[in-house]
Amino acid sequence: MTDIPEQLIEHLRSAAKVVVSTGAGVSAESGVPTFRGKDGIWNKMSPQELASVDGFMANPELVWDWYQYRRELMNKVEPNPGHEAICKMERLFDNFVLITQNVDNLHQRAGSSNIIELHGNATRNKCFSCNELFEGDINLKDKLPHCHCGGMIRPDVVWFGEMLPERAIQNAIKSAEEAEVFFSVGTSAMVQPAASLPLIARQAGAFVVEINIESTSLTNIADIFLQGLSGEVLPHLIAELT
Ligand code: OAD
Repeated sequence: MTDIPEQLIEHLRSAAKVVVSTGAGVSAESGVPTFRGKDGIWNKMSPQELASVDGFMANPELVWDWYQYRRELMNKVEPNPGHEAICKMERLFDNFVLITQNVDNLHQRAGSSNIIELHGNATRNKCFSCNELFEGDINLKDKLPHCHCGGMIRPDVVWFGEMLPERAIQNAIKSAEEAEVFFSVGTSAMVQPAASLPLIARQAGAFVVEINIESTSLTNIADIFLQGLSGEVLPHLIAELT
């Protein structure tokens, strides 16, 4: 079991604001595959075909099939002890923000509420033209779904080459700047702008903690690297703290 340094517990006991930023690794123990690494999704599938505007325009049926498959998987799996520990952290600290790159809705299902969704949420859909949101499943049987304005409906997620939702990234940067302890959990720290958030926090004086099964480009910058499964390290941290 990864040791939780006393220094981290002290920082957390006196922190006015705690921020946790998560990536796909947090959901790996629930059975949702990560994107990179040996068994990563982007090792087997093409992000250009499945997660870009050009890919959607070229073959919307293929992209919808892919998202329907992912939604079925997301509905089948359950939040794991890592998601649950992050939810408990929200109750422990008066000022707590969760920033996630994940679109799988597992943090929300675990009970976290103060969440900044950097890359959208795959349980929602939106219109390409007017941005109206459509909750829930879409009937894809007969034809591709269209909005009443005539625009094509698509999953409400950020694809490669697209801008992040403006308010989400602004709030995430502000939270990183205000954080006294900033956790980066289960992310390869390879996708911008999410990868810059721990650096922004560090520059603004935060104590930066990385939790990951392996080191990343962030490891040398972090104050503490806790190597291990987020579903084990985070509950252990909560137990030590309480
Ligand atoms: P990646 O697949 O790039 O990285 C997952 C990270 O989680 C790796 O560093 C793993 O070592 C780590 N990891 C795996 N299992 C873990 C566990 N049980 N506990 C702790 N760490 C674990 O996923 P992200 O960094 O989230 O974007 O990828 C960022 C973005 O790239 C995604 O949001 C997605 C993708 O393309 C879009 O689709 C726009």
